[in-house]
Amino acid sequence: MQQAEDDRTLLISSETLRDRVCELGKQITKDYQGAPLVLIGILNGAFMFTSDLCRAIDLDVGIDFIRVASYGDATKSSGTIRMSMDYRLNVQDKDVLLVEDIVDTGITMVWLKEHFRNSGARSVKICALINKDERRKADIDVDYTGFDIAQGFLVGYGLDCGERYRNLPAVYALRP
Ligand code: IMP
Ligand code: MG
Repeated sequence: MQQAEDDRTLLISSETLRDRVCELGKQITKDYQGAPLVLIGILNGAFMFTSDLCRAIDLDVGIDFIRVASYGDATKSSGTIRMSMDYRLNVQDKDVLLVEDIVDTGITMVWLKEHFRNSGARSVKICALINKDERRKADIDVDYTGFDIAQGFLVGYGLDCGERYRNLPAVYALRP
């Protein structure tokens, strides 16, 4: 049975996602020419974005994942980060690009940047599919942004609400 659509509104279609991810890939390819780039996908939300983005990057890249969560319940950030899986690649002297689904309060990104501080990486930057600054608490620069979205709780294309909707091919706003 298909998931009913009456609880959500389409925000970013799969075609728009594909086009923007391609543009981001081209920009990253240009900016990291000749650099030892390592993509670190932030699980679970960024699994789909990471797999599309890495195919849009025409460079020899390393790919790894780290798993962190900040959400106490389905739609509210707890403000405390829990890491349940660390990255394994050696990032010594590499250029790390953190690939995130959404930067919301920014607390996760501050934590991750700190986590990579002693990794020996020569740079750590952020690529976020969505930058949602309505509830921003931490001062964080997002180096590559797919879409700026003012507000709302978003699902699809990897984003979940209580582990639902991740497999939707487009991004939707949940109706309140
Ligand atoms: P932050 O620490 O508040 O920036 O939280 C970022 C994390 O919260 C993201 O990695 C997402 O997994 C999750 N998140 C934030 N906003 C949403 C949303 O609208 N839908 C689904 N997950 C979200
Ligand atoms: Mg996440």
